[in-house]
Parts: sequence; structure tokens; C-alpha cells
Amino acid sequence: MKFFVDTADLNDIRDLAATGLLDGVTTNPSLVAKSGHSNFVDLIKEICAIVPGPVSAEVAATDFEPMLAEGQYLAKIARNVAVKVPLTPAGLKVCKTLSDQGTMVNVTLCFSAAQAILAAKAGATFVSPFVGRLDDIGENGMQLIADICQIYQSYSYFRTEVLVASVRNPIHVVEAAKMGAHVATIPPNVIRQLFAHPLTDKGLAQFVVDWQKTGQKILPEGSGKG
Ligand code: E4P
Repeated sequence: MKFFVDTADLNDIRDLAATGLLDGVTTNPSLVAKSGHSNFVDLIKEICAIVPGPVSAEVAATDFEPMLAEGQYLAKIARNVAVKVPLTPAGLKVCKTLSDQGTMVNVTLCFSAAQAILAAKAGATFVSPFVGRLDDIGENGMQLIADICQIYQSYSYFRTEVLVASVRNPIHVVEAAKMGAHVATIPPNVIRQLFAHPLTDKGLAQFVVDWQKTGQKILPEGSGKG
């Protein structure tokens, strides 16, 4: 399963990229606004230089022609840009055009299995179903992921990857992995939560204490470390 980080914060992206566990980045207009960065194109350029995997950059226009122009412009920033378009008729038309031109496309704001079928038919590289926002209105976000995974598995010619978005907690990530979703885009704080378990902390503290009791060092004297 691939992990993308869902942020436009360069410090978080650098920090998490250093773990070697990051496969890509997703941004959206709200995350860009939150980052406080004043030049979107420069921001995307910088992110693409930090993370070699797909970096989603979202169009701002909502009509076909200007959306296509923005998408083509964003695609030229770096070879790892995935142009993000909304799941609307215009967005899917742009998706089809850009996909046919060899550009990666992430179709965002997907809230139903029917929409996910359309995204796959439009040649999307990724479809982004928003699980957290569905949970927020009393629907079952993870059921949507299960439905989309099941449908996509029935049609081998659907190349679209299921990119689980609007992730709010580690359970979303684990459930998505059990369902076979290709990617989860995860906020930085939730990625950090994935590492954590109180028994890991407790066990490590005990190992450190017990190791000190042995009075040994693993590295030979004079090796400069340890
Ligand atoms: C990512 O591609 C989406 O824009 C993002 O996951 C939405 O998350 P939110 O519902 O927490 O804003």
C-alpha cells in the first residue's frame, strides 16, 4: 500500500520524506491556504523536488477550457505532478483529455461508487473517495472504499488506483489496507500516530535499562560511535 502525505506544509513533507516511507503528496486549495505559501506553482515545484512520487496539484477553475489550461500548465511544473480535478462533468472531461496526453490525473471529491466508475472510465490515475467527510454526515466512508475496490477488481481494464482521502485516524488506514486500496493520503499527525504503540515505548525503555546493566557496547572502542 502506498502512503501519500495530505499536506502542503514543506516542513512536514521534508520530515516525513526522510523516513523513506512516503510515496507521494496530495495538496488541495484549503491545504495550500493553510500553508501560508503565496506562490502555488513554486510550492508544487519545491514539493516535487522533495518527493519523487506523485504530487497532486489541484486546478482552481471549474469550467472545462480554463480547467484544462490550468491542468496543462500544472503538468509542466515537474514530471511527477498529478493534476487534481473535481468529480464534475467538466473535471472528468479534463481528466480524459489530460490522461490521453500522458498526464497523471487525480479525480477528487468522490463520494459515491457511481462517481468512482466514471473516474475510471475517464482514465483517472487516481480516484479520491473522501471517507472522513462521509463519516461526518453519518454515512459509512469505509463502505464506499470497499464498494469501489470490489467494482474495480471486477474490471481488469480499469487502471485507476483507489486513493483513500479525508483520512482522520489510523483505523481508516488499516481498514483501507485490508480492503486492498492502493493508496491512502494521510495527514502528517495521523502518519505519526501509525508509528505509536504504548507497548513499543514501554518495551524499548526496558531494553535500554537492561542493556545498560550488561555494561557492553555493540561498536568496538574507537569506532567513533556508541
Ligand atoms: C486529499 O486529496 C483531500 O483533499 C483531503 O484528504 C481532504 O481531507 P479533509 O476532508 O480532511 O479536508
